[in-house]
Amino acid sequence: MKNVLVTGGAGFIGCNFIRHLLEARQDVRVINLDALTYAGSPANLEDLPAPDRHIFIHGDIRDEELVDHVIMEHRIDTIIHFAAETHVDRSIAGPAPFITTNIFGTYNLLEAARKRWLGNPGMQAVKTRFHHVSTDEVYGSLAPDAPAFTESHPYTPNSPYAASKASSDFLVRAYARTYGLSITITNCSNNYGPYQFPEKLIPLALLNALRGEPIPIYGDGGQIRDWLYVRDHCAAILAVLERGEPGETYNVGGNNQPTNLQLVRKLCRILDDRLPNSPNVPHENLITFVVDRPGHDRRYAMDIRRIREQIGWEPQETLDSGLAKTVDWYLAHQDWIATILERPSYQEWLERNYRERGGS
Ligand code: NAD
Ligand code: TYD
Repeated sequence: MKNVLVTGGAGFIGCNFIRHLLEARQDVRVINLDALTYAGSPANLEDLPAPDRHIFIHGDIRDEELVDHVIMEHRIDTIIHFAAETHVDRSIAGPAPFITTNIFGTYNLLEAARKRWLGNPGMQAVKTRFHHVSTDEVYGSLAPDAPAFTESHPYTPNSPYAASKASSDFLVRAYARTYGLSITITNCSNNYGPYQFPEKLIPLALLNALRGEPIPIYGDGGQIRDWLYVRDHCAAILAVLERGEPGETYNVGGNNQPTNLQLVRKLCRILDDRLPNSPNVPHENLITFVVDRPGHDRRYAMDIRRIREQIGWEPQETLDSGLAKTVDWYLAHQDWIATILERPSYQEWLERNYRERGGS
């Protein structure tokens, strides 16, 4: 692994991964291809640990010519594919970019990798890898007592987002089986931590709580997610790249499954502790139940035995330690928060998603 193409590296997980990789491996160069959609920001790439080993390219993974050119020009040997439309509620409001970016964009990268790596005798001695970052949402929703998702759980995606990620997983798998492309896939659970865009539950709840605004909980708040601290996820991806079996899929999870309501209450208690003089203490009083998400998956849980036993990875953070780090990061990065709050597109999204959900 020398010349690594990271797609979506100006987004939440991608920018954390670039930091992790530059710190962990001194001989790697990162080429970061990102379209800077509403979710990506140059502010996420400030203070990188080794900026001289990072090249940013503003571009779209759906652009065939550009993707092919980048892989050739930078002699890319490893692709770590994060770029995607990622928010379930936005996929319900408008699925089109989820189909073009998540499915066609992935196909486009696979096709360029096939051409440049397998169709080029000069590259045959070079070790290559296409790593695809996917989600537990492809497996659908678990019944309350059902065992956690293993890698062989049937794919039953329920949202346009999950369906688009499932399609991309199948394409990646097909390129391995049909053409012999060296691939790995990780399906991870809900990430949280620094730089997460505040449309997702944890940073949205945090920012609303800081501003004394209602914290919206969909439905009864009894939905269950498996929360993974983002830097644990980054370590898992690097471990899979270096020690994973080509062609294999690995589930990555955080070993905890609170309900949304329990999670948000925990978050509020950390805020009470950090800001005892805030007029919003107890922050829990801001919790507001709102109209549920259509097709809302009730429960996800990850069985992480394969990655633990075959690769030796497991999460280092507990939910308490990861949430405390997350709250402290947001409190220390008011400038970063301000750059997002001032964007009209963010306010428009809040208005669009929450106006008709009401509150009780
Ligand atoms: P994000 O929404 O924070 O960032 C996505 C990034 O991709 C942004 O920088 C955006 O500009 C870029 N992008 C979008 N469309 C693009 C295009 N057409 N061309 C180039 N760049 C484009 O996403 P994230 O939370 O960092 O998620 C990264 C990956 O991890 C995604 O593939 C997602 O499906 C997967 N994942 C995320 C979570 C989670 O909890 N965040 C959980 C499981 C899996
Ligand atoms: P989210 O962060 O959007 O991630 P995902 O849908 O990919 O799991 O949502 C996490 C959970 O929180 C999910 O069950 C939906 C719920 N949720 C709320 O209750 N209120 C909100 O305002 C948001 C954004 C999410």
